[in-house]
Amino acid sequence: MYRISQLAEMLGLSRTTLLYYEKQGVIQGKRLDNGYRSFTDKDLQRLKLLQKLQAGGLTLKECLACLDEKVERDILVERLRQLDEEIAQKQKSRQLLAALLGESSLTDWHQTLEQQAPEAHLEWLIKQGFDEKQALRLKWLSKDMNNHEQYMLDFNLIFKDLERWGPGSEADTLRALAKVPHSPQSILEIGCGQGSATQILAEHSSANITAVDNEEFALQSLVKTLKEQGTGDRVATVCTNMEKLPFEPDSFDLIWCEGSAYIMGVNNALKAWRPLLQDNGILVLSDLVWSVESPSEKALAFWQKEYPDMTTAAHRIAQAEQAGYEVIGSFALSDESWLAYYAPLEDRIDALGSQRQGSMALEDLQRELSAFHLRAGEFDYQMFILRACN
Ligand SMILES: C[S@@+](CC[C@H](N)C(=O)[O-])C[C@H]1O[C@@H](n2cnc3c(N)ncnc32)[C@H](O)[C@@H]1O
Repeated sequence: MYRISQLAEMLGLSRTTLLYYEKQGVIQGKRLDNGYRSFTDKDLQRLKLLQKLQAGGLTLKECLACLDEKVERDILVERLRQLDEEIAQKQKSRQLLAALLGESSLTDWHQTLEQQAPEAHLEWLIKQGFDEKQALRLKWLSKDMNNHEQYMLDFNLIFKDLERWGPGSEADTLRALAKVPHSPQSILEIGCGQGSATQILAEHSSANITAVDNEEFALQSLVKTLKEQGTGDRVATVCTNMEKLPFEPDSFDLIWCEGSAYIMGVNNALKAWRPLLQDNGILVLSDLVWSVESPSEKALAFWQKEYPDMTTAAHRIAQAEQAGYEVIGSFALSDESWLAYYAPLEDRIDALGSQRQGSMALEDLQRELSAFHLRAGEFDYQMFILRACN
């Protein structure tokens, strides 16, 4: 025989809980002459069984049903399903905490957050101590805040001596420039990098050019090149974020952007840059597009991860029209343009490979190179020449 205080101690339950269980019929105490409640071994065992069932997630009502009647299979099946879900959820929470502590990769987490809440993602990265530029690089390049610093060191080591940072060629830049119906006087180039297009625009126009990038060392390299070319006096460089351009409306008669608009989203860029153009001003931009309706699974899997917003040229044109442009030309960049970017990149990766084994930046770029080698006409780099409509 047990007193209620003994039961409470043995089971780690409070007196109030036991009284409640008594009221619900889980146990049945007997009043002794001295007024105390007394419980039997059967009560103790029922309570132990109840605790086991509760640990499986059953409610008190469901536990009572199991204690007193035949087990209801459907209830157990449903609870089991819920428990599996809770465990999977907890496992995810565990993985996230471990990843935040640097024990595993954060890539998937950053990518999901980027797709579901891009602004909150950026704000959160800035709270973690990244400046805006690094937070933007993290979203697009390293995709893992724990490896970001090393990733960017490797990334810059690979790219700093490469002239081109995206597909393009002099012939294709000139082909697009030839489609601009006026002789430009004020050009804004966005995401100019080390200026492979800037030099061509400077040489083949008499315009004043404002070249924007948020990588200071790229702009310094461009200034040096332009000085040697003798066109430096017509080109001003501005180190800023393309998403917050500090220019007045109607400032330019031509905006040029090779391989960079994807960074803020091409559709966002089309809308945000439109007011900077004067009447009938022209926007030229290039973007990676699907050139077949049903790309192979391999290509889809790679680009959906690397460039989730990638779409067809026809869809980009529809977006441009929606944003207030008329399409006056569009063509796929030549194979030479692809090679002008990927051939030196491949050489550079081969040269650095043995020194930088295990580098995530190198591995990512090797994967991109493999995707390029499997291109098989499934995707193109498309140049769009768009006139701002009134
Ligand atoms: C793919 S590269 C293209 C560079 C150049 N147009 C070329 O074809 O060589 C993208 C460029 O955008 C710049 N960039 C990245 N994010 C930026 C941002 N938020 N604002 C301004 N420039 C940015 C990078 O520094 C880089 O130079």
